Formats: sequence, structure tokens, C-alpha cells
Amino acid sequence: MFFKKKKSDEERILPTHIAIIMDGNGRWAKKRSLPRTAGHAAGSKTFKSIARYCNKIGIKYLTVYAFSTENWKRPKSEVDNIMNILRDYLKDTDSFKDENIKLEFIGDREPLADDIKELMLKAEADSASATGLHLNIALNYGGRDEIVHAVKRIVAEGINAEDITEQTISEHLYTAGQPDPDFIIRPSGEYRLSNYLIWQSAYAEYWFSDILWPDFGPKDLDRAIEDFSRRNRRFGGI
Ligand code: FPP
Repeated sequence: MFFKKKKSDEERILPTHIAIIMDGNGRWAKKRSLPRTAGHAAGSKTFKSIARYCNKIGIKYLTVYAFSTENWKRPKSEVDNIMNILRDYLKDTDSFKDENIKLEFIGDREPLADDIKELMLKAEADSASATGLHLNIALNYGGRDEIVHAVKRIVAEGINAEDITEQTISEHLYTAGQPDPDFIIRPSGEYRLSNYLIWQSAYAEYWFSDILWPDFGPKDLDRAIEDFSRRNRRFGGI
């Protein structure tokens, strides 16, 4: 798919599925002598504006890493704060519905609070027929945990070992039925995947930047997409 750039005649290729590790909230807050909670609040604003922007420019899938299976190790007050940001967001999804964004959660829901689980189901049901951006929020998500869940389900379904293919695994992941991310963005100067979409990212392009997530704006996304567009993607061929 081609997307006309605003300021030049050059055409760029849009990724189909962008995955973002929303990193650097804590450091953003620290730089301003603010509590980490202020960083997450600012990160949440950035999340909303980037999701809207992706929808506007025609990105089909966006997956954001909101809370990992490892994030429970943080102080309880910080975990509660992130969950409260999520609660507030889920109580106000009308704006996303109005924008035709389809919301889905990936990750293990089991340990989450009951009210959050209900809000998640409601948000998914309310936006199920949206035809714009498909927005995945990874919550209590871990790539290895996802693969373990997939294998357990494959075994439980009694699928024979010789019938298991890569497609069988893909179809049992939280992202079943979705295209794999072709572009993974990690701001904040870290160069790790941190257990994010480890199966799905086998052929993704990566983009790293020093920008802290709360400072990440549509212009930065444009820059990343321009880089993506320039890369020659060969999938192991020549
Ligand atoms: C990583 O930065 C960020 C998180 C673990 C939380 C991300 C959550 C949000 C942005 C809120 C999302 C809200 C919704 C509604 C999806 P960090 O805290 O590890 O930053 P640091 O490495 O600078 O300490």
C-alpha cells in the first residue's frame, strides 16, 4: 500500500502492523523531578495520540505494550497506578469507538482484577464491528508465556505432533488471525525486545530511538515510517 507524503512527491510504504514498546515513562518523570506516576500519565496521553494518528494515516494494526508479565515485580503502588490509568481509559472508550477503532487485548487476563476484565470485554464488544485501526493492547503479556499457553491449548485440543506446523502455533497465539507485526518501534534508548511478540516478530523491521515515550509524537512516527519505507525487505530471499 502506498501513502502520499504531505511535503514531498516521494511515496512511502506503510507498515501493515506496527508494534510499540512504550518505554521511558519513568525516566521522563525523573528528568522533571516528578513521580513515576506522572510519567505513566504522560505516556498514556502519547498512546492515545499515536493510536489516533495511526488510524488517521491508514495503519491497519497497532499493538502497544502496556504491561508485561514481568511488570508485577514493580512496587504495588506503581502497578496500581498503571491499572488505574487503564481503568480510566476503558471507561472512556466512546471517543475511540467514534473514530472506528477496534480494540483488542492480548495477554493472560486471569490474574487481572475482575472489574478490569469486565471493562476489557465491554470495550472489545463495543468496538467489535469497527473497521478502522485494529488496536491491540498487550496487558499482562509475555511472549514466552503466550507460547506456553498456545502449546497447552494445542495439546488440550488433541492435535497430533506430526500435524503441528508454524501455522498451528500462530493460530493459537493471542494474535491469531492477525498479520505479524512488520515494524517494531522501541523508544527510550533501549535495544531489547523484552519478551514482546517474540514469535510474531521473526521478520519484523526494528526502529530504535532515544526519545522517551511521553515525548514521542506523530512527527517521530512519520520519521520511523520513512525509514521503514527505505528498507529493502527480502524475507531471507535475494
Ligand atoms: C515502560 O516505561 C512503561 C510501562 C511499563 C507502562 C506503560 C503504560 C502506559 C504508557 C499506560 C498505558 C495506558 C493505556 C491505556 C494503554 P518505564 O516505566 O519502564 O520507563 P523507565 O524505563 O524510564 O523507568
